[in-house]
Amino acid sequence: MTDKYAVIGNPIAHSKSPLIHAAFAKQTGQDISYEAMLAPLDGFTAKVLELIAQGYKGANVTVPFKFEAYNLCDVLTERAQHAGAVNTLIFTINHIKGDNTDGAGLIRDIASNFGIALQDARILILGAGGAAQGVFQPILAQQPARLVVANRTLDKAQKMASQFANKVAACTFEGLKNQSFDIIINATSTGLTDTALPIPDTIFTKNCLAYDMMYGRETPFMAQARAAGAQVADGLGMLVEQAAEAFYLWRGVRPQTAPVIAQLRKA
Ligand code: ATR
Repeated sequence: MTDKYAVIGNPIAHSKSPLIHAAFAKQTGQDISYEAMLAPLDGFTAKVLELIAQGYKGANVTVPFKFEAYNLCDVLTERAQHAGAVNTLIFTINHIKGDNTDGAGLIRDIASNFGIALQDARILILGAGGAAQGVFQPILAQQPARLVVANRTLDKAQKMASQFANKVAACTFEGLKNQSFDIIINATSTGLTDTALPIPDTIFTKNCLAYDMMYGRETPFMAQARAAGAQVADGLGMLVEQAAEAFYLWRGVRPQTAPVIAQLRKA
Protein backbone atom coordinates (compact mmCIF):
# COMPACT_ATOMS: atom_id res chain seq x y z
CA MET A 1 0.00 0.00 0.00
CA THR A 2 1.38 3.38 -1.01
CA ASP A 3 1.17 5.93 1.85
CA LYS A 4 -0.30 9.23 0.69
CA TYR A 5 0.94 12.75 1.55
CA ALA A 6 0.28 16.21 0.12
CA VAL A 7 1.17 19.88 0.42
CA ILE A 8 -1.76 22.25 0.90
CA GLY A 9 -1.52 25.90 -0.11
CA ASN A 10 -3.05 28.69 -2.18
CA PRO A 11 -1.53 29.20 -4.69
CA ILE A 12 0.20 25.83 -4.97
CA ALA A 13 0.80 25.09 -8.66
CA HIS A 14 4.47 26.13 -8.56
CA SER A 15 5.34 24.23 -5.37
CA LYS A 16 8.58 22.26 -5.62
CA SER A 17 7.60 20.01 -2.71
CA PRO A 18 6.15 17.15 -4.84
CA LEU A 19 9.42 17.00 -6.79
CA ILE A 20 11.51 17.07 -3.60
CA HIS A 21 9.51 14.34 -1.85
CA ALA A 22 9.48 12.18 -4.99
CA ALA A 23 13.29 12.44 -5.07
CA PHE A 24 13.52 11.55 -1.35
CA ALA A 25 11.18 8.56 -1.83
CA LYS A 26 13.20 7.26 -4.78
CA GLN A 27 16.48 7.71 -2.93
CA THR A 28 15.31 5.95 0.26
CA GLY A 29 13.04 3.32 -1.36
CA GLN A 30 9.97 4.58 0.55
CA ASP A 31 6.61 3.75 -1.05
CA ILE A 32 4.81 7.11 -0.87
CA SER A 33 2.85 9.46 -3.09
CA TYR A 34 2.95 13.24 -2.60
CA GLU A 35 0.75 15.75 -4.39
CA ALA A 36 0.20 19.51 -4.46
CA MET A 37 -3.33 20.36 -3.29
CA LEU A 38 -5.02 23.71 -3.77
CA ALA A 39 -7.39 24.63 -0.93
CA PRO A 40 -9.83 27.54 -1.31
CA LEU A 41 -8.87 30.43 1.00
CA ASP A 42 -11.82 29.56 3.25
CA GLY A 43 -11.44 25.81 2.80
CA PHE A 44 -8.27 24.72 4.60
CA THR A 45 -9.91 22.72 7.40
CA ALA A 46 -12.28 21.01 4.97
CA LYS A 47 -9.31 19.99 2.80
CA VAL A 48 -7.45 18.52 5.79
CA LEU A 49 -10.52 16.55 6.90
CA GLU A 50 -10.98 15.32 3.34
CA LEU A 51 -7.39 14.05 3.23
CA ILE A 52 -7.79 12.30 6.60
CA ALA A 53 -11.00 10.63 5.38
CA GLN A 54 -9.11 9.45 2.30
CA GLY A 55 -6.44 7.81 4.45
CA TYR A 56 -3.59 10.29 3.92
CA LYS A 57 -0.81 9.93 6.53
CA GLY A 58 0.24 13.56 6.67
CA ALA A 59 0.61 16.84 4.85
CA ASN A 60 2.77 19.90 4.52
CA VAL A 61 1.15 23.30 4.84
CA THR A 62 2.28 26.42 3.06
CA VAL A 63 1.17 30.03 2.50
CA PRO A 64 -1.34 31.23 3.65
CA PHE A 65 -2.46 28.36 5.90
CA LYS A 66 0.38 27.87 8.44
CA PHE A 67 -1.43 29.77 11.20
CA GLU A 68 -4.75 28.08 10.53
CA ALA A 69 -2.94 24.74 10.67
CA TYR A 70 -1.54 25.71 14.07
CA ASN A 71 -5.06 26.34 15.37
CA LEU A 72 -6.42 23.13 13.89
CA CYS A 73 -3.94 20.72 15.51
CA ASP A 74 -4.84 18.65 18.60
CA VAL A 75 -1.17 18.23 19.52
CA LEU A 76 1.70 20.65 18.82
CA THR A 77 5.43 20.02 19.09
CA GLU A 78 7.49 22.48 21.09
CA ARG A 79 9.00 23.99 17.95
CA ALA A 80 5.53 24.50 16.44
CA GLN A 81 4.46 26.24 19.65
CA HIS A 82 7.48 28.54 19.49
CA ALA A 83 6.91 29.29 15.82
CA GLY A 84 3.19 29.91 16.32
CA ALA A 85 2.73 28.20 12.96
CA VAL A 86 2.65 24.68 11.54
CA ASN A 87 4.13 23.48 8.25
CA THR A 88 3.92 19.71 8.82
CA LEU A 89 0.86 17.68 9.81
CA ILE A 90 0.97 14.09 10.97
CA PHE A 91 -2.35 12.24 10.93
CA THR A 92 -2.63 9.56 13.61
CA ILE A 93 -5.71 7.54 14.53
CA ASN A 94 -6.93 10.03 17.13
CA HIS A 95 -5.02 13.20 16.50
CA ILE A 96 -3.77 15.80 14.10
CA LYS A 97 -0.24 16.54 15.25
CA GLY A 98 1.49 19.71 14.09
CA ASP A 99 5.18 20.44 13.80
CA ASN A 100 7.25 23.20 12.25
CA THR A 101 10.38 22.18 10.36
CA ASP A 102 11.19 25.58 8.81
CA GLY A 103 13.59 26.73 11.52
CA ALA A 104 15.39 23.39 11.61
CA GLY A 105 15.67 23.53 7.82
CA LEU A 106 17.28 26.97 7.94
CA ILE A 107 19.76 25.95 10.64
CA ARG A 108 20.70 22.78 8.80
CA ASP A 109 21.26 24.65 5.55
CA ILE A 110 23.50 27.26 7.19
CA ALA A 111 25.38 24.88 9.50
CA SER A 112 25.67 21.71 7.40
CA ASN A 113 25.48 22.88 3.79
CA PHE A 114 27.36 26.17 4.16
CA GLY A 115 29.48 24.93 7.06
CA ILE A 116 28.97 28.14 9.05
CA ALA A 117 28.65 27.90 12.83
CA LEU A 118 25.80 29.83 14.44
CA GLN A 119 27.29 29.40 17.87
CA ASP A 120 29.04 32.63 18.94
CA ALA A 121 28.04 34.35 15.69
CA ARG A 122 26.50 37.82 15.52
CA ILE A 123 23.20 37.21 13.76
CA LEU A 124 20.71 39.69 12.27
CA ILE A 125 17.18 38.88 11.16
CA LEU A 126 15.52 41.36 8.82
CA GLY A 127 11.74 41.32 9.14
CA ALA A 128 9.32 40.49 11.94
CA GLY A 129 6.47 38.74 10.14
CA GLY A 130 5.42 35.12 9.87
CA ALA A 131 8.58 33.93 8.12
CA ALA A 132 10.78 35.46 10.83
CA GLN A 133 8.74 34.18 13.80
CA GLY A 134 9.72 30.54 13.26
CA VAL A 135 13.47 31.02 13.24
CA PHE A 136 14.23 32.82 16.53
CA GLN A 137 13.97 29.84 18.87
CA PRO A 138 16.02 27.47 16.67
CA ILE A 139 18.71 30.16 16.26
CA LEU A 140 18.80 30.91 20.01
CA ALA A 141 19.22 27.17 20.66
CA GLN A 142 22.52 27.44 18.74
CA GLN A 143 23.76 30.04 21.26
CA PRO A 144 24.75 32.95 19.04
CA ALA A 145 26.87 35.77 20.51
CA ARG A 146 24.13 38.25 19.61
CA LEU A 147 20.72 38.11 17.90
CA VAL A 148 19.10 41.26 16.53
CA VAL A 149 15.79 41.72 14.71
CA ALA A 150 15.40 44.80 12.52
CA ASN A 151 12.08 45.73 10.97
CA ARG A 152 10.47 48.63 9.09
CA THR A 153 7.81 48.79 11.81
CA LEU A 154 9.69 49.00 15.11
CA ASP A 155 6.84 47.82 17.37
CA LYS A 156 6.61 44.53 15.50
CA ALA A 157 10.34 43.94 16.02
CA GLN A 158 10.01 44.86 19.68
CA LYS A 159 7.02 42.57 20.13
CA MET A 160 8.93 39.74 18.49
CA ALA A 161 12.03 40.31 20.65
CA SER A 162 9.97 40.54 23.85
CA GLN A 163 8.98 36.87 23.45
CA PHE A 164 12.58 35.87 24.13
CA ALA A 165 13.31 37.66 27.42
CA ASN A 166 16.53 39.64 26.97
CA LYS A 167 18.02 37.38 24.35
CA VAL A 168 16.96 39.33 21.24
CA ALA A 169 17.50 43.05 20.53
CA ALA A 170 15.11 45.00 18.29
CA CYS A 171 15.74 48.04 16.08
CA THR A 172 14.72 49.79 12.87
CA PHE A 173 16.83 49.57 9.69
CA GLU A 174 18.15 53.02 10.64
CA GLY A 175 19.27 51.59 13.96
CA LEU A 176 21.63 49.21 12.15
CA LYS A 177 24.18 51.99 11.58
CA ASN A 178 27.39 51.12 13.47
CA GLN A 179 26.47 47.44 13.79
CA SER A 180 27.90 44.53 11.81
CA PHE A 181 27.10 40.83 11.66
CA ASP A 182 28.43 37.42 10.69
CA ILE A 183 25.08 36.04 9.49
CA ILE A 184 22.26 38.19 8.08
CA ILE A 185 18.94 36.56 7.24
CA ASN A 186 16.35 38.34 5.12
CA ALA A 187 12.93 37.20 6.35
CA THR A 188 11.01 40.14 4.87
CA SER A 189 8.76 39.65 1.87
CA THR A 190 10.61 42.35 -0.14
CA GLY A 191 12.12 39.80 -2.53
CA LEU A 192 8.63 39.18 -3.91
CA THR A 193 8.32 42.81 -4.99
CA ASP A 194 11.98 43.41 -5.90
CA THR A 195 12.17 46.11 -3.23
CA ALA A 196 15.53 47.11 -1.77
CA LEU A 197 15.76 47.39 2.02
CA PRO A 198 17.14 50.64 3.48
CA ILE A 199 20.01 48.81 5.21
CA PRO A 200 23.56 50.19 5.36
CA ASP A 201 26.34 48.29 3.53
CA THR A 202 28.36 48.40 6.74
CA ILE A 203 26.27 45.63 8.34
CA PHE A 204 27.97 43.12 6.03
CA THR A 205 31.37 42.03 7.28
CA LYS A 206 33.73 40.54 4.71
CA ASN A 207 32.71 36.92 4.03
CA CYS A 208 29.67 37.13 6.26
CA LEU A 209 26.74 34.99 5.15
CA ALA A 210 23.80 36.90 3.66
CA TYR A 211 20.87 34.51 3.49
CA ASP A 212 17.58 35.28 1.77
CA MET A 213 14.73 32.96 2.76
CA MET A 214 13.27 33.48 -0.73
CA TYR A 215 14.45 31.36 -3.62
CA GLY A 216 14.19 31.36 -7.36
CA ARG A 217 15.80 34.72 -8.09
CA GLU A 218 18.46 37.18 -7.05
CA THR A 219 16.70 39.61 -4.70
CA PRO A 220 17.84 43.24 -4.18
CA PHE A 221 19.05 42.12 -0.71
CA MET A 222 21.24 39.44 -2.28
CA ALA A 223 22.60 41.88 -4.86
CA GLN A 224 23.48 44.45 -2.19
CA ALA A 225 25.13 41.81 0.01
CA ARG A 226 27.16 40.42 -2.90
CA ALA A 227 28.40 43.91 -3.81
CA ALA A 228 29.38 44.45 -0.17
CA GLY A 229 31.58 41.31 -0.21
CA ALA A 230 29.24 38.86 1.54
CA GLN A 231 28.79 35.18 0.75
CA VAL A 232 25.22 34.97 -0.57
CA ALA A 233 22.60 32.24 -0.26
CA ASP A 234 18.98 31.92 -1.31
CA GLY A 235 16.35 29.82 0.48
CA LEU A 236 16.43 26.79 -1.82
CA GLY A 237 18.55 24.80 0.63
CA MET A 238 16.17 25.68 3.46
CA LEU A 239 13.24 24.51 1.34
CA VAL A 240 14.86 21.12 0.75
CA GLU A 241 16.03 20.80 4.37
CA GLN A 242 12.60 21.58 5.86
CA ALA A 243 11.17 18.95 3.51
CA ALA A 244 13.80 16.41 4.62
CA GLU A 245 12.88 17.05 8.23
CA ALA A 246 9.17 16.47 7.42
CA PHE A 247 10.06 13.31 5.49
CA TYR A 248 12.00 12.10 8.53
CA LEU A 249 9.02 12.78 10.83
CA TRP A 250 6.72 10.78 8.58
CA ARG A 251 9.00 7.95 7.51
CA GLY A 252 11.73 7.70 10.17
CA VAL A 253 14.37 7.91 7.43
CA ARG A 254 16.60 10.92 6.79
CA PRO A 255 17.15 11.47 3.05
CA GLN A 256 20.31 13.00 1.63
CA THR A 257 19.60 16.58 0.67
CA ALA A 258 22.71 17.58 -1.34
CA PRO A 259 21.76 15.66 -4.51
CA VAL A 260 18.22 17.05 -4.38
CA ILE A 261 19.42 20.64 -3.90
CA ALA A 262 21.80 20.13 -6.85
CA GLN A 263 18.99 18.67 -8.98
CA LEU A 264 16.72 21.67 -8.27
CA ARG A 265 19.51 24.17 -8.97
CA LYS A 266 20.14 22.53 -12.34
CA ALA A 267 16.43 22.65 -13.19
P1 ATR B 1 5.69 36.66 5.87
O1 ATR B 1 4.76 35.59 6.31
O2 ATR B 1 6.24 36.49 4.47
O3 ATR B 1 6.74 36.95 6.87
P2 ATR B 1 4.34 39.02 6.78
O4 ATR B 1 4.00 38.34 8.06
O5 ATR B 1 3.33 39.89 6.10
O6 ATR B 1 4.76 37.97 5.69
O7 ATR B 1 5.68 39.86 7.03
C1 ATR B 1 6.30 40.58 6.01
C2 ATR B 1 7.60 41.18 6.54
O8 ATR B 1 8.25 41.87 5.47
C3 ATR B 1 7.37 42.21 7.64
O9 ATR B 1 8.48 42.23 8.49
C4 ATR B 1 7.29 43.51 6.82
O10 ATR B 1 7.61 44.68 7.54
P3 ATR B 1 6.48 45.47 8.41
O11 ATR B 1 6.30 44.66 9.65
O12 ATR B 1 7.04 46.80 8.65
O13 ATR B 1 5.24 45.47 7.55
C5 ATR B 1 8.37 43.25 5.80
N1 ATR B 1 8.18 44.07 4.60
C6 ATR B 1 7.26 43.92 3.62
N2 ATR B 1 7.41 44.86 2.68
C7 ATR B 1 8.45 45.64 3.07
C8 ATR B 1 9.11 46.78 2.50
N3 ATR B 1 8.74 47.33 1.34
N4 ATR B 1 10.15 47.31 3.18
C9 ATR B 1 10.57 46.77 4.35
N5 ATR B 1 9.99 45.71 4.92
C10 ATR B 1 8.96 45.13 4.30
